[in-house]
Amino acid sequence: MRTAPPPDVLQAIALAEAEAKKAKKDPRRSHKGAAALATPVANAKVRERKAAPATAPPKFSKAARRFYNENIKEHEPQRLAKVLAAAGVASRRTCEELIFQGKVTVNGSVCTAPQTKVDISKDSIYVNGNRISKKLPPKLYFAVNKPKGYICSCGEPKSIISLFDDYLKGWNKIQPGVPKPRLFTVGRLDVATSGLIIITNDGEFAQKLSHPSSNIMKEYVVTIDGPVHRNHLIAISEGTKIDGVKCIPDLVEPLDVQSNTKRTRIRIAVHEGRNHEVRELVQNAGLEVYALKRVRIGRFRLSPDLGIGKFVELKQTDLKSLEGKK
Ligand code: URA
Repeated sequence: MRTAPPPDVLQAIALAEAEAKKAKKDPRRSHKGAAALATPVANAKVRERKAAPATAPPKFSKAARRFYNENIKEHEPQRLAKVLAAAGVASRRTCEELIFQGKVTVNGSVCTAPQTKVDISKDSIYVNGNRISKKLPPKLYFAVNKPKGYICSCGEPKSIISLFDDYLKGWNKIQPGVPKPRLFTVGRLDVATSGLIIITNDGEFAQKLSHPSSNIMKEYVVTIDGPVHRNHLIAISEGTKIDGVKCIPDLVEPLDVQSNTKRTRIRIAVHEGRNHEVRELVQNAGLEVYALKRVRIGRFRLSPDLGIGKFVELKQTDLKSLEGKK
């Protein structure tokens, strides 16, 4: 599979972009503008500029790379398993199993190699006898305010994905002819944890964001039923071993005492992303977690306006914030 855009395509895009920029800044540089130059000297200069050999290879701007990814790479033949996952058939791994089991045909022949390159818009693909649409669903990203008691796996009655039931039921009205997206969570929250979780149908994005190497900071508010002393905060700050790895939080901060309940809240930020990490840190300090809520991922904060069980679609700028970028 190609991992980088072909240099000739990027070069062409970069040169076209550079030309367009120059023409915008100085209309006389565009072909029409050059013809309008009055003096022969000026025309000679234009010819000189055109004839000058490129001294350095063009740098591929972010915009050029994005243009390539969105308009060219997406439409190049891709691995069969990846295409099936993007089409919403199942997870990439399940799609690979379906292919190995001989349940997938491409242009009338059984295909048992997940790495086979296919073009969804041209090839005729069937899974278990059902034809796969020639269109891919759009990539979608949502922030959800997870209620306590919901689980992150799909297909269970109290799955967090069931919060999208009405949205998906109305899909064919909003997007007629476009296959339904297969939504899943980016990473996990314990069943008893509430707050911010991301839902998408973009497997690559989900993997990038949830991989421990991304080191993305996540912030939680922990409620303790009772007082929290300095020694507790120190013990939490010192960290604990989880799965043999020492996890040290990036931030431990006491919040207000809730006067009506005598409950105490602590803000804790971590970047390891280990299972039950925050609960382990708190319990290791001799405290019992009464409630746990995630309030931030990267630079993206859960909006206080987003009600429990509600979701909001994310914009490109929100996706950058999730990755901790500006
Ligand atoms: N840490 C936990 O202990 N639980 C979660 O759900 C998330 C982080």
